[in-house]
Amino acid sequence: MLANERAESCPGPRRAVPGSGGIIPCYSVGIPDAGNSGHPPTVAACMTTIGLIGAGHIGSQLARLAVAHGYDVVVSNSRGPETLTELVAELGEHARAGTSQEAAEAGEIVVVTIPLKNIGSVPVAPLAGKVVIDTNNYYPQRDGAIAELDDESSTSAELLQAHLPTSHVVKAFNHIAFGDLTAQALPSGTDNRRALVIAGNDADAKQTVAALIDRFGFDVVDVGSLAESWRIQVGTPGYGPRLTVAEMTEALSRAQRATAS
Ligand SMILES: NC(=O)c1ccc[n+]([C@@H]2O[C@H](COP(=O)([O-])OP(=O)(O)OC[C@H]3O[C@@H](n4cnc5c(N)ncnc54)[C@H](OP(=O)(O)O)[C@@H]3O)[C@@H](O)[C@H]2O)c1
Repeated sequence: MLANERAESCPGPRRAVPGSGGIIPCYSVGIPDAGNSGHPPTVAACMTTIGLIGAGHIGSQLARLAVAHGYDVVVSNSRGPETLTELVAELGEHARAGTSQEAAEAGEIVVVTIPLKNIGSVPVAPLAGKVVIDTNNYYPQRDGAIAELDDESSTSAELLQAHLPTSHVVKAFNHIAFGDLTAQALPSGTDNRRALVIAGNDADAKQTVAALIDRFGFDVVDVGSLAESWRIQVGTPGYGPRLTVAEMTEALSRAQRATAS
């Protein structure tokens, strides 16, 4: 199901999760935005299968969170599904391994969580119209020099969006260390809950991802469009530390581009 199909027919995860009291229903969540925080929008979270392109530190952690919260997952990497046997065994019956093409086809939300230098290999056609989460960061020592990022005329998320022109790319999970995804998750409404940042050009897609993040255990701050996602890139005040919504909003406002005079 695509983001814009979620309204009344919304199924939510189709299975019971221990401690949830039964099948998790569709639910609503308010999203503070980092700029003019007016009245937060209300959205439903109703996806059932999450595809993961990349099953390393971040991909495997997101797969763990997804399975724990009632989703099915299809994990993939560059070497092939046979190399993911151990992870799938750990995740259990609601996980399977596939190729990246299969993960992209199966996922109602698909996460691209690979070294940035490899985004050109992400399959395009099966991701058409889908919400695609981009966790990727630019590390020149790993990814090589990328001129549009070095001169700050673009962002890493905009590069993925350009590669996937008919997908709805949302930047998320790029500024939290992989271990903290499970260690710092807290129920919605907990005081001083950690906030994670999203950015994207499609409001519905951002609401879908915000609802997923809330379900996974974190508050959400919307920093704006993909062009604004530089405010949470490597080296900015919000990148790394555990911050609440108020603290993250302040950190995003203090971010500066390296080439700014
Ligand atoms: N580590 C963190 O705490 C952290 C936090 C936030 C964001 N990030 C960012 O998130 C991304 C993933 O980070 P990570 O730490 O999870 O990396 P990682 O541990 O090195 O894992 C990368 C994964 O991507 C797969 N992969 C590489 N090229 C691929 C391709 N062309 N198609 C499909 N799969 C491919 C790898 O598969 P193979 O092993 O088979 O090659 C591996 O499963 C990076 O951009 C990173 O900068 C990392």
